[in-house]
Amino acid sequence: MSAKRENFGSRMAVILAMAGSAIGLGNIWRFPYMVGEHGGSVFIIIYVAATLLISLPVFVSEVVIGRRSRSNALTAFWKLSSGKRFWKIVGFLPIAIPLIIASYYSVIGGWSIDYLYKSAAMTFVHTEPSQVSAVFDSFVTNGAEPVLMHLLFLLFCTLVVSSGVKSGIERFSKITLPALFVLIVVIAVYSISLPGALAGVRYLVKPDFSALTPSTFAYAMGQSFYSLSLGMGAIITYGSYVSSRENILASSAGTAVSDLLFAILAGFAIMPAVFAAGIEPGAGPGLIFRSVPYVFSQMGQGAPVISSIVAAIFFLAVVVAAMTSCISLLEVGVAFLVEKFSMKRWHAGFLLFFLCGGAGVLCALDGRVFDGFDYLASNILLLLMALLAVVFVGFVMKKEDVRDELTNSGSLKGSGTLFPVVYFLIRWVAPPAVVLIFISNFIL
Ligand code: TRP
Repeated sequence: MSAKRENFGSRMAVILAMAGSAIGLGNIWRFPYMVGEHGGSVFIIIYVAATLLISLPVFVSEVVIGRRSRSNALTAFWKLSSGKRFWKIVGFLPIAIPLIIASYYSVIGGWSIDYLYKSAAMTFVHTEPSQVSAVFDSFVTNGAEPVLMHLLFLLFCTLVVSSGVKSGIERFSKITLPALFVLIVVIAVYSISLPGALAGVRYLVKPDFSALTPSTFAYAMGQSFYSLSLGMGAIITYGSYVSSRENILASSAGTAVSDLLFAILAGFAIMPAVFAAGIEPGAGPGLIFRSVPYVFSQMGQGAPVISSIVAAIFFLAVVVAAMTSCISLLEVGVAFLVEKFSMKRWHAGFLLFFLCGGAGVLCALDGRVFDGFDYLASNILLLLMALLAVVFVGFVMKKEDVRDELTNSGSLKGSGTLFPVVYFLIRWVAPPAVVLIFISNFIL
């Protein structure tokens, strides 16, 4: 079996595929409203620190588990723990959790497709905030429309995943990710140039320490995990396609930095425009769907066609970013089915399409199911799994094996020098921090 496993073609391909998984709705949709709800620049500072000190070691651990085992997320734990029962059971988690996320994630992906269409059709020209909100409310409760869009989004992701690691995932991310960076920069420039936008820029760069509360730390760390696709088997699975010559520390750092950069760019694309339009930064999860279309309609007072095109480009960016992330979620299950049950990629892809498609329909129709899936996955299972992964590498795997993976058996001198620091973070910084976030989720 292992002889037939595919690998990513190059360092750049690894970073692009992993960044493709990381960069998604977490950056464009979730990050800006979290910033708005949790004190602006103070949140960003903690988020950056948490990413470098806590999430990055967890990320490295997941790549190590993947590459060392060269197998899907379940078999990875089975192989590397030499069959200990506890870790055999743990192996089931990263197979089940991504499917829960993929179900509701593709619902938001579907909303974005719909907003791409609505923007291009100039639905939002000359609208007031209340009208924009009314469009959103009637859309999400419409039943048929969100369900269809969700299935369309998921179908597209399934087609890419089924085409394989190199010709599907790698090729898709190689094209879309650079395009995405360009798009978001264009939007940010547009947004910052609006009258009144500077207040938003100030909000993002000038720390207001009075906004700092204990829960800011928990939210910033949680956001960082979510954004880097940790705790779901996604990075373990992609790690298993990293070639043995690749430098794990370098490609992990490259991915984390791209993800950070993209989140901050998304902040600059959205916050200045939100301030320019006089919208509350703490408007919550609806921030981009309820306010962004209004922002663009305001921009386009004199030029509705141009502003509609820019709005459509924005939602296209959201759709593409969401797709590369959803693809990584599906790949976890596909790798498992192909390797454990010798299924064909196409059959595995479509089996997952029906499973997630069905569960997603429930999410699209009932907000309570949607919220339940999101809460269960992001606040409980994700943290639990990330903790298990980092403890596994820090305390179950042999130190020499971890060092071998990170230094390619000693041939990477720079990684050798950094190893003690990374290993310390993996053992003594990340696990207690994750436990802390986990507990604070319940008491704050
Ligand atoms: N990281 C992605 C985003 O920011 C979402 C995502 C993809 C994800 N795979 C994941 C989140 C695995 C948690 C775990 O949109």
